[in-house]
Amino acid sequence: MTRDKVSIHGAWASRWVFILAATGSAVGLGNIWKFPYMTGMYGGGAFVIMYLVCIFLVGLPIMLAETLIGRRGRQSPVNSLKSLALEAGASPKWSWAALMGMVAALLILSFYSVVAGWSLDYIISMGRGTFDGISAEGAGAAFGALTSDPWRLTLWHSLFMLLTGFVIARGVVAGLERGLRIMMPLLFVLLLVLLGYSMTTGHFMQGFHFLFDFQPDRLLDGVLAAMGHAFFTLSVGVGSIMVYGAYMPRQASIGATVLTVGVLDTLVALTAGLALFPIVFAGGLEPSAGPGLMFVTLPVAFGNIAFGQLMGTVFFILVLIAAWTSSISMLEPAVAYLVERTQRSRAFVTSVLALLCWLVGMGTVLSFNVAADAKFFVFAEDGFRLFQWGAEGGRNFFDSIDYLTSRILLPLGGLAFVLFAGWVLQRETVRDELALRHPRLFPWVYWAMRVVAPLGVLIVFVAELVK
Ligand code: TRP
Repeated sequence: MTRDKVSIHGAWASRWVFILAATGSAVGLGNIWKFPYMTGMYGGGAFVIMYLVCIFLVGLPIMLAETLIGRRGRQSPVNSLKSLALEAGASPKWSWAALMGMVAALLILSFYSVVAGWSLDYIISMGRGTFDGISAEGAGAAFGALTSDPWRLTLWHSLFMLLTGFVIARGVVAGLERGLRIMMPLLFVLLLVLLGYSMTTGHFMQGFHFLFDFQPDRLLDGVLAAMGHAFFTLSVGVGSIMVYGAYMPRQASIGATVLTVGVLDTLVALTAGLALFPIVFAGGLEPSAGPGLMFVTLPVAFGNIAFGQLMGTVFFILVLIAAWTSSISMLEPAVAYLVERTQRSRAFVTSVLALLCWLVGMGTVLSFNVAADAKFFVFAEDGFRLFQWGAEGGRNFFDSIDYLTSRILLPLGGLAFVLFAGWVLQRETVRDELALRHPRLFPWVYWAMRVVAPLGVLIVFVAELVK
């Protein structure tokens, strides 16, 4: 009794294209830039373990929920949730979760584009040999020179936003599918080349131990960060995966497909770590450098090893491609929604939204230089302030958006989606859509969606608030 709706936006040619698209969305700056530096900050192996637990117990059930809601609804996340809620006799207000997700995705895109823009700058300076023989201070200064120059940041941010809008405006098949078919294989090849290279540095085992040695005392340091990151890296909680699910063919098993995506994303993150840390150690650098890890320590490493100029250029091209296949998935939920709602053309809607994200992104651009002292979420001795110029603590605009999305909006969105699939949709609907290869596993998977994942999010969320 499958009633099949069709999406007005188009459909992937096969389940493999969904895997490409969802993996393209999942694999991004989160894997190559954030994961290694967070692992470095939160003590290596201990963080990796918490991250894996969060991915498999919480992230994957939410991804299942999103994919099946999308495929069942065949519309933008907002309208899919609305129509499925009405069909199930529940409140159409469930769609507010998707509305919030849509806004969160646009907020993420605003800063993602700025950071992705750095990789454009680095492709050029790497290729030109700017980093040849550079010292750690030199690389720090080069990164500082980039982030303190609002014009340079604006240039690259604008270019990256144009690249993103270009693919989205061309549509699901001519834009996304075609782009992904070229970019994803390239991404994997580049990553393997880099891994092969790091094995020749002589520090491979040191990197390996750093990533996988277990330090029980640091286990709890990074749980909150690990949960936030599990959402971010899998692209769940905002409707990116849901909108891709809407373009997925009917016959495919969601269970097997989503597992493939989760495993690929995790493998890429671990491979990126295995490729990066040996290079960091080979350059005699600190793994705990924070967000600058990729942009400061790596150029030093690449600038001082054989074939570094070539490998460094390859590396930043890899970063660019990974970021590009992710950024398009942040824009798609809102574009699909506005096309449905306003009946305007994709190109028009894309231009308006990209411009909006670009504008918000300018806040991030300025937060690295002229507006570095504009602080939000300030917890001072005499109380909490939302905004204060020049406050001691607090977060600048970039950190605030990152915090607001990763730690608050993504978990809330993910919680709503998984609760909707687990408690609002009928059990049979969920079972049919998932179409697990091993039906005996269904009760376990269903239980993970109804209980384990929501509890996981809630616990971490409350811990975050009382911390
Ligand atoms: N997962 C991507 C990364 O790791 C980023 C991303 C794409 C994302 N779409 C998203 C993050 C939606 C949160 C929500 O870089």
